[in-house]
Amino acid sequence: MIVNLYGTSAVSDEGHLKVGGIDTVQLGKKFGTALYVYDVAMIRDKARAFRSAFERENVNYQVAYASKAFSCMAMIQLAEEEGLSLDVVSGGELYTALKAGFPVERIHFHGNNKSESEIRMALDAEIGCFVVDNFYELSLLEQIAEEKNVKANVLLRITPGIEAHTHDYILTGQEDSKFGFDLQSGQVERAILDVTKMSAIHLLGLHCHIGSQIFETNGFVMAIEKIYSYLTTWYDAYGFEPEVLNLGGGFGIRYTSEDHPLPVGNYIEAMIETIRNQVTGQMNMPEIWIEPGRSLVGEAGLTLYTVGSHKNVPELRHYLAVDGGMTDNLRPALYQAKYEATIANRMNEAKDHLYSVAGKCCESGDMLIWDCQLQRAIAGDTMAVFSTGAYGYSMANNYNRLPRPAVVFVENGEANLVVERESYEDLVRHDLPLKQAIISK
Ligand SMILES: Cc1ncc(COP(=O)(O)O)c(C=O)c1O
Repeated sequence: MIVNLYGTSAVSDEGHLKVGGIDTVQLGKKFGTALYVYDVAMIRDKARAFRSAFERENVNYQVAYASKAFSCMAMIQLAEEEGLSLDVVSGGELYTALKAGFPVERIHFHGNNKSESEIRMALDAEIGCFVVDNFYELSLLEQIAEEKNVKANVLLRITPGIEAHTHDYILTGQEDSKFGFDLQSGQVERAILDVTKMSAIHLLGLHCHIGSQIFETNGFVMAIEKIYSYLTTWYDAYGFEPEVLNLGGGFGIRYTSEDHPLPVGNYIEAMIETIRNQVTGQMNMPEIWIEPGRSLVGEAGLTLYTVGSHKNVPELRHYLAVDGGMTDNLRPALYQAKYEATIANRMNEAKDHLYSVAGKCCESGDMLIWDCQLQRAIAGDTMAVFSTGAYGYSMANNYNRLPRPAVVFVENGEANLVVERESYEDLVRHDLPLKQAIISK
């Protein structure tokens, strides 16, 4: 029996949820809860779907995994195994990639406020390219690259004035965003002209990211058309054309049964067709890069919890508390993200109880799911919350001094611990004792 939202899980003879061939209740017993579990085969399938969509179109491309969605050494190594490139946005994400042995030439460094030391670290590592966000970064990068006598490859991140909000696209004149060079007001053109005079910088092309959880192709089509309306003018004026056009990430996934994501190939086909239509005259087809995060790992992850206390407010609400919450999944508290769940040890029972799933943190807003139809649950049951693979572990925190959970990869009936659970000792590792004031005469 196929039971979860996305169809890769199954149920054991005992009525337990299985993922990657493994009983999740046993996983919870062995590794403890809360626990992040990833179905590795599903990540591989997604990576292959993106890559084969490009292969079918016979264009030059890179699919860069946006590691902000979930970064740890094993995940970076999996991305490498699947032939992906890598988007990092901080010294910490870059360090993880380097420790994991990821090929440096396929690392793209993002961020709207890269520090001098992060830029030095990336230049020393000889990464593939910097996605430059603003004029300050451009001159800092030029200065450091000159000093090191190296040439940095650069994409300019632009805000095309199109913002995708799941199903709506907002055309904004002057886009109000902290990211990127503004297209409309002439910042992009100025940056291109500046860069062409910088001997320590090689301008590879342009980058844009129009939003997240996008379920239609038109936002990408509109962004490409808008960019090319400028590119054709610049080509005629100074012969500028991008070697690379990076269209970012944001491909929607299924968190609940209300979400209906497109097959990833649809986005790629629409992008390539639009670019082909826009590339006119002497202009060349650019290399096309994308950087999906959640669509590679989101649906492949689930979080296991142990059910604890109940609070039934008659006629109002039945709260069911679990041994995690906003510390391991900040998204519901941060932006009202919605999830679905199941009681993993009662898969053969009807979901005939309405609960609201609460975390254990000291915040009333620490609610994982409001109004969730579940099997009757008692303390000690195992709950699985689906589609937590993106921005769950990566946004995890130690509020109330909760140790961050472990992460387990499952594939072909084998479980592989890839991140250890934090201990209480880890929580105080960087604490220093209050020093006694030394009073000298
Ligand atoms: C520049 C950029 N690229 C890629 C991504 C990945 O987006 P998603 O995880 O929705 O695919 C993000 C997400 O914030 C982003 O800001």
